[in-house]
Amino acid sequence: MLDQIKYKSENKIELTADELKYILNISDLEEMKSLFEISYKVKEKYIGKKVWFRGIIEFSNICKKDCYYCGIRKSNKNVERFMMKEEEILKGAKWAFDHNYGSVVLQSGERDDKAFVDFITSVIKKIKEISEGKLGITLSLGEQTYETYKTWFDSGAHRYLLRIETTNKNLYSKLHPNDHDFETRKKCLYLLKDAGFQVGTGVMIGLPEQSIDDLVNDILFFKELDVDMIGMGPYLVSENTPTAQLISNFDEIKERQYHLGLKMIAAVRLYLRDVNIASTTALQALKTYGREMGLKAGANIIMPNVTDTFYRSSYQLYNDKPCIDENSDLCIDCLESRIINIDEEIGFGEWGDSPHFINKNLKVNDKDEN
Ligand code: 5AD
Ligand code: FES
Repeated sequence: MLDQIKYKSENKIELTADELKYILNISDLEEMKSLFEISYKVKEKYIGKKVWFRGIIEFSNICKKDCYYCGIRKSNKNVERFMMKEEEILKGAKWAFDHNYGSVVLQSGERDDKAFVDFITSVIKKIKEISEGKLGITLSLGEQTYETYKTWFDSGAHRYLLRIETTNKNLYSKLHPNDHDFETRKKCLYLLKDAGFQVGTGVMIGLPEQSIDDLVNDILFFKELDVDMIGMGPYLVSENTPTAQLISNFDEIKERQYHLGLKMIAAVRLYLRDVNIASTTALQALKTYGREMGLKAGANIIMPNVTDTFYRSSYQLYNDKPCIDENSDLCIDCLESRIINIDEEIGFGEWGDSPHFINKNLKVNDKDEN
């Protein structure tokens, strides 16, 4: 079967759902290695031997939502809540700019009150100001109205990440309280597109009660939505959360979670080809070199944390989050050598937009001219 998958990937023939399922079910380590060689080749063809950095600033853990799996959910009373001041966020952005990162990601718990919306609008404009328009801005700030999305886009942000978390609606409803609605979240992905953003989505991999068929459907959903970026990672236990209570043997399944995370990257690269795919911190939480392995399986984006270390321990979405103590200067040294070690180049100073987004717009423009 893998030979057929290889042949198809070399000849741009779309994989079937059964082939995606086959990929996600691979358990033999040698076969997995061969799979990653095939998916890496596709990454190399569409992106090059290149990794783009996005400095992520996790500026607040205040959240109005209550997702059952998440460490910063509203009901978790063991978390000390924080919100960085504007100048602290700008300091992170300036650090990223001075170190030639092409862009930053602003991420926080979800809020939609006017004070928050205005605050973000101002931060976006100021990041543009201090970088003379050069730093790209990705937002990861949850579900908002079209007006809010448009305001933020018009202020200078140009990419937005909103994970659908799982496309199995039944599972979605088990992982969230009743007022967290799958359809609303899906609709937001369309609103983001309409507002002009390059849109990213993704899922958690290896959730309790999630099947391999669910993950195949997630990949089909990414295609149907025609998204530009994918950010996904293994589900990890976060203590004091309801979802964590469903699992008693997490240590025993860590290896499986890790491999499933890598196989999802490979499958998405083979199926969507020219999108940006992040190798997420959740992979590194499971294995020291998990993020590098994610790149080797076909991912091309790394999001180094540039948040002040003072706040990092309060932004724990799950247990064992790495790099809590290392400051950004230490992180960049460590990351750079790690990337060089796997023979990849860092796209310093570039926004690193999704080739899929660029290709899509070229096609539209061609049509307009004809
Ligand atoms: N394990 C893995 N990922 C998680 N996230 C939240 N909680 C967890 C967890 N326990 C992810 C969600 C969210 C992103 C910011 O973090 O997918 O969209
Ligand atoms: Fe904050 Fe889910 S708990 S968005």
